[in-house]
Amino acid sequence: MDKKKLLLFGARGRLGAALARAYGEDWNVVALGRQEGDLSTPETAASMVRREKPAIVINSAAMTNVDVCETERGLASTVNADAPGALARACTDCGARLIHISTDYVFSGNASEPYEEHAAPDPISWYGQTKLQGEEQVLSAGDQHGVIRVSWVFGPDRDSFVDKALQSSLRGEPVKAVADKWSSPTYTLDVAEALRALFSVEAPGGVYHLCNRGVCTWRDWAEEGIKAAAALGLPVKTSSVEPLKLADIKAMVAPRPVYSPMTCERIEGLLGYPLRSWQDAVHSYVHLLADQGRLTVD
Ligand SMILES: NC(=O)c1ccc[n+]([C@@H]2O[C@H](COP(=O)([O-])OP(=O)(O)OC[C@H]3O[C@@H](n4cnc5c(N)ncnc54)[C@H](OP(=O)(O)O)[C@@H]3O)[C@@H](O)[C@H]2O)c1
Repeated sequence: MDKKKLLLFGARGRLGAALARAYGEDWNVVALGRQEGDLSTPETAASMVRREKPAIVINSAAMTNVDVCETERGLASTVNADAPGALARACTDCGARLIHISTDYVFSGNASEPYEEHAAPDPISWYGQTKLQGEEQVLSAGDQHGVIRVSWVFGPDRDSFVDKALQSSLRGEPVKAVADKWSSPTYTLDVAEALRALFSVEAPGGVYHLCNRGVCTWRDWAEEGIKAAAALGLPVKTSSVEPLKLADIKAMVAPRPVYSPMTCERIEGLLGYPLRSWQDAVHSYVHLLADQGRLTVD
């Protein structure tokens, strides 16, 4: 039987690359990086949907640098808001479902409990605002489309905070990390697995949260990565991570939400099982890096 077509935007990003690898066995994956699927020209990107006529489109492309979004506001609006809207309308026209990746940064971070899917967004940065506008444009284009909010994304295709902490520790450098900002790390391989639940036409559209279970700070995240490496016998040289205050990171231009963990009830309901804890996901990731020989001293 012919495989159905899945069109992926952002295929060379941290999450997109993991998605591009995951679905090839079951789907005819057309994976577009920035050059082939540029979201700074939304109608051109949408015309690719109309031409390819896929069953599923995933948009993992975005302007993700929160500080650059603050200063390049027009481009951020085009890429993060208008382009997802154009993709969603093209999907509606050809009967496809758009799975659009969004962020916990649509929330203000003034909460004291993890955000549920129906919590009211209230972004405090231009990045968060453009991502929220993207969500709204996607959802208004058709009920079948899904908005998937992830947070603190990590995985083998592009370094993130935990990789930098591991590398510093292996080099014997002190590791410092913010200890007064909380969220939930999201392992790209777990996202790839969980998104399959949305490939079925029976799965309802709307907003889904998708992150590993639990709440932590950047400091906890770094320490867990180092602990996992030490448990595998790797020569990490740091056991504790020095705490920093968010307010002391002067290089940050845009404000960040202080507390933006999320609960994932809707996707867990579709999956029929709870997502694993962020600690389990970090250990699994460090194991993978060790197996690939990537945790060596440079
Ligand atoms: N990273 C996080 O911690 C995090 C947290 C919450 C939500 N998210 C969301 O998760 C999704 C995936 O992010 P990620 O972590 O995979 O980040 P990423 O590695 O920065 O991936 C984003 C991809 O989008 C591409 N891109 C940027 N501008 C583009 C344009 N004009 N046209 C087409 N592609 C463009 C980038 O291309 P280049 O490779 O050329 O740069 C990159 O490959 C995004 O929607 C992001 O908002 C991420």
